Amino acid sequence: MGKQTTFTSPRGTKDILPQEMPLWHHIENTTKKLLHSFNFQEIRTPIFENTHLFKRGIGEETDIVNKEMYTFHDKSDRELTLRPEGTAPVIRSSIQHRLYDSPLPTKLYYCGPMFRYERPQAGRYRQFHQIGVELLGSDHPLTDVETIHLAYMICHELGLADLCVHVNSIGDPTSRPIIEEAIRQFLGSTSWFKESICPQCQPRFDKNPLRILDCKNKKCQSYLAGLPDIKSFLTQEAKDHFNTIVDELTRLNIPFKINDKLVRGLDYYTKTTFEIISNDLGAQNTVCGGGRYDLLIEQLGGPATPAIGFAFGVERMAMLMKDTPITQTEPLIFLAPTGNVSQSLCFNYLTQLRTNKIRCEMD
Ligand code: HAM
Repeated sequence: MGKQTTFTSPRGTKDILPQEMPLWHHIENTTKKLLHSFNFQEIRTPIFENTHLFKRGIGEETDIVNKEMYTFHDKSDRELTLRPEGTAPVIRSSIQHRLYDSPLPTKLYYCGPMFRYERPQAGRYRQFHQIGVELLGSDHPLTDVETIHLAYMICHELGLADLCVHVNSIGDPTSRPIIEEAIRQFLGSTSWFKESICPQCQPRFDKNPLRILDCKNKKCQSYLAGLPDIKSFLTQEAKDHFNTIVDELTRLNIPFKINDKLVRGLDYYTKTTFEIISNDLGAQNTVCGGGRYDLLIEQLGGPATPAIGFAFGVERMAMLMKDTPITQTEPLIFLAPTGNVSQSLCFNYLTQLRTNKIRCEMD
């Protein structure tokens, strides 16, 4: 007899068990109701896409594309990737089906699994779920405010407490090279410096120095002490855009913090970046991340169209709500036959109740 094998879910994945489903349904239903009231429509895209979409969309130098993608070749040798995020697929679909051909901004939302080969830990999985939105066709700063407000309202409606919205601006295409050069100059281009920054930041210094700003390595952080706020290098237009957002968030009483180091890990962002951070989640404390991406649609082959969006991590929302009592609204009618005659009678009732969509069970 061979040794018996017991199977468990693959590392970094988790089963969402029946007893957890009421909470997941509550999160999804509450969020969807709010999204409908903000006039968003649902879109569902495939779980896998051509790998090139993510390389072009998210950026070749990002951690996601460099080391976290589940990429495979199908039987026709096409290179495909399980989607690590929802923005690039939704934009791909919007271009393919010309969803932006309307006078009003196109407002789309999605829910579903994403895949990243990351080191698993509390709140970080290799298959996780996102609820995300993408709003295409407006470059107005009030659209940024509307989007951040929506993310905040979702938290509020779900009763998530102890949260803070972090916002920043990483500049438009004109300010970006100026910011990058300022960071390089500040950090110094001597070889000893490049050798002593962490291995992840070494390639970033030349290719994307902004990403050094959110490196968790203490040494890299110490080199950044005294770096001027990157927003001081923004063009007047980008500064005005950011200031309007700050004024309006203040007016709406949304608790927020300007975080000069918030640059985000995906290359498509321009101007506004934001995250919602929880004090109750430990190391993986970002429950929602998003920002403006005015160049991505054009980069993926569509017409120049500004856009903004965000995504929530559903596992992290569920972790924050694990003690929230979710009331099961529908009662269960239980039929307990005591003999052969009552059994067939009960079975009749059972069928009638079910035909009338009344929740019932018999044993
Ligand atoms: P992201 O910051 O990479 O942004 O992910 C958004 C959220 O997904 C995170 O804040 C976190 O809650 C959750 N998340 C990410 N990775 C994991 C993981 N390994 N395990 C569990 N949860 C995770 C994006 O994906 C962008 N597409 C958001 C966006 C939409 N920007 C513009 N539009």
